[in-house]
Amino acid sequence: MALCCSNDYNILRRSPTLYTQDSAQETAPTQIFLNSKLFNWVKPCTNKKKSLHFSPLTHRKSSRFRCSSYYQSSGYTITLRIRLLFFAMDDPFERSISSRPSKKALTTSNHLRHVESLATLPSGAGRISKLNAVILGESLASEEDDLVFPSGDFSRQAHVPSPQKYLDMYKMSIEDPAGFWSDIASQFYWKQRWGQPVYSENLDIRKGRIKIEWFKGGMTNICYNCLDRNIESGNGEKTALFWEGNEPGEDGNLTYNQLLQRVCQLANYLKHIGVKKGDAVVIYLPMLMELPIAMLACARIGAVHSVVFAGFSAESLAQRIMDCKPKVVITCNAVRRGSKIIYLKDIVDAALADSAQNGFAVDVCLTYENCSALEKVKTKWQEGRDTWWQDVVTKYPTTCDVEWVDAEDPLFLLYTSGSTGKPKGVLHTTGGYMVYTATTFKYAFDYKPSDIYWCTADCGWITGHSYVTYGPLLNAATVVVFEGAPNYPDSGRCWDIVDKYKVSIFYTAPTLVRSLMREGDEYVTRYSRKSLRILGSVGEPINPSAWRWFYNLVGDSRCPISDTWWQTETGGFMITPLPGAWPQKPGSATFPFFGVQPVIVDEKGVEIEGECSGYLCVKSSWPGAFRTLYGDHERYETTYFSAFPGYYFSGDGCSRDKDGYHWLTGRVDDVINVSGHRIGTAEVESALVSHPQCAEAAVVGVEHEVKGQGIYAFVTLVEGVPYSEDLRKSLVLTVRNQIGAFAAPDKIHWAPGLPKTRSGKIMRRILRKIASRQLDELGDTSTLADPSVVDQLIALADS
Ligand code: WTA
Repeated sequence: MALCCSNDYNILRRSPTLYTQDSAQETAPTQIFLNSKLFNWVKPCTNKKKSLHFSPLTHRKSSRFRCSSYYQSSGYTITLRIRLLFFAMDDPFERSISSRPSKKALTTSNHLRHVESLATLPSGAGRISKLNAVILGESLASEEDDLVFPSGDFSRQAHVPSPQKYLDMYKMSIEDPAGFWSDIASQFYWKQRWGQPVYSENLDIRKGRIKIEWFKGGMTNICYNCLDRNIESGNGEKTALFWEGNEPGEDGNLTYNQLLQRVCQLANYLKHIGVKKGDAVVIYLPMLMELPIAMLACARIGAVHSVVFAGFSAESLAQRIMDCKPKVVITCNAVRRGSKIIYLKDIVDAALADSAQNGFAVDVCLTYENCSALEKVKTKWQEGRDTWWQDVVTKYPTTCDVEWVDAEDPLFLLYTSGSTGKPKGVLHTTGGYMVYTATTFKYAFDYKPSDIYWCTADCGWITGHSYVTYGPLLNAATVVVFEGAPNYPDSGRCWDIVDKYKVSIFYTAPTLVRSLMREGDEYVTRYSRKSLRILGSVGEPINPSAWRWFYNLVGDSRCPISDTWWQTETGGFMITPLPGAWPQKPGSATFPFFGVQPVIVDEKGVEIEGECSGYLCVKSSWPGAFRTLYGDHERYETTYFSAFPGYYFSGDGCSRDKDGYHWLTGRVDDVINVSGHRIGTAEVESALVSHPQCAEAAVVGVEHEVKGQGIYAFVTLVEGVPYSEDLRKSLVLTVRNQIGAFAAPDKIHWAPGLPKTRSGKIMRRILRKIASRQLDELGDTSTLADPSVVDQLIALADS
């Protein structure tokens, strides 16, 4: 039996429709036609809920097709909705595209989907039409009737066992935020209770300065609450951290008592070298236990930590050092990740030299000797500035007085990408963040004292702050910290670790789920995983087929998935399932956490009710919200509170279905989410144009099968410079060196010119369409200063 595409042209569109030729055939077909070519259907599947896979007869390594769903009607006609997935940015249909009559396709103005007047919005992304949510080619909203229920046993033991219980608590949190959060805050240790009002806020730019404060006047310390308080309540001998090294068999652990001692020694050392309350400390460490130790030591003495992900380049590190001017930088000499060694101290040396040249010299570089990666003697050293952690810190006393700080005193700075080249220093304060991370952790993971918790995030990102370090430790949890790579020595490593430590809560990112899913089920099924009871997802939308694989295979259809939507700025979960409370829909983050009022607004900033799509905003504050951007309150106000006055604007698009479930659809601003890491297009562009042979660059995000989004760069070369493979490599290397390997463009598209309006603004909408080969959706190009550049770009698409 064979299927054929309804017409060849359809194949270039998002959801072409295929019909069976033989309508009397009920069984799954074995071959289909796409674009007049015959393909084998390699994995026919009769389960409506599962993806169907089929592959080209002629194998092209870069192309893959996947059916998102199919329906069998009573008239024996099978209709398939298929989506093309591009791997490694290679277009399997380049020949079809280049053979299309380009003129006709390019001048159709009636396809104008995006309203240009919306260019004042962060992205100019325009209206998000009703319920068009699609993640990696998979329609989300159409899956809305696909409910996955928690088991009765699970619900019965959950903190929030029913929708009614949630609604009661949610109502209380919205009607009386002060009372709701005060009750929870009282469970922590406060040297002095907060004053009145419990919180004060202004989220309306029209009414003046944006301000958020919670528990002001209250004196506390988050390190004390993570460690001393838990030890006093009898958890001193409970394991706080299990550490799993890069090599299987290399491990360690610390009880709460031992962790406190380590933290105190470092805190005493920091005090001794003159670090005081309010001083910044930059931490550039891999996932050693010393990373959370360093964060907690800073918090203990009231210093403000700024962890820089140890995948950032020397230039990025220098930029952050110059911005927050730390007294000390804490690092280690090197780290092994998989089979690679990364010489972190060399990167820090280069950053410190750069920063010193630009007028800011760091006095102390405290370096941990990570002997499994590099010996002391082989480490480059600057006498006077560099100190070995093991030589000094261990000499200090294992107790250290706590610096009591105001709830509104800063706890940490964490830089995140924005729509300009300069990263934003997101500032979180102490009290509200403490109460919020602890509470979200407890409810979203239905945490119980017997749980063993593993979050695969690095402490260099917000997830590692809130849900490796503070949230779990505030709950006296046992946390697994993993130094290595999830595919080393093979793709079963995660499940090996789950079995080794009897992990019961496993929190990760969709990108990891998708990459493991590609490696095949056998890496999962060879491990027991029976300790697992909850799974979690964060960082980007999880497409339904990855959700199902995670749920059915990894969790044996037993473990609810908490798909937590939140941001560096929000400090903690904002929209998240509460496992046990309500059924899930694969791909939906479901409902708001206590105290959070998400609203979806249209392009004019008007709240839309009921089933809709639009821009995700939040009205009214929550305790974990960021308070400012370090040193730039004006940017805080314009970036987050000006687009839609009266609201915090998240930068994300969102659909809400008829049952009130939220479906996050990704960024609508100039930020690309690559493997859950936010990268500003402007940052990549400024790195590219720093290359001597690059005249101009424009970067857009494009769908990527594993990373969620890939980086696609249009590059205009300096007059007379020829295109070459070497130049392409050298441009990519420039970005790696200036930002970090994770920001390297997946595709460099040569661009003799860029599509610009007559006022010189680059029309990214057109570039996005070219990058994703949605050439029939280019819209009106007649307003361009030079419409012919579009033809040139299409012609060069795969050169
Ligand atoms: C995206 C990471 C869909 C979103 C905690 C947000 C998500 C950005 C989800 C923040 C989710 C995070 N579903 N999208 N569950 N979680 N995002 O600051 O676009 O690194 O704005 O914080 O990640 O990224 P950030």
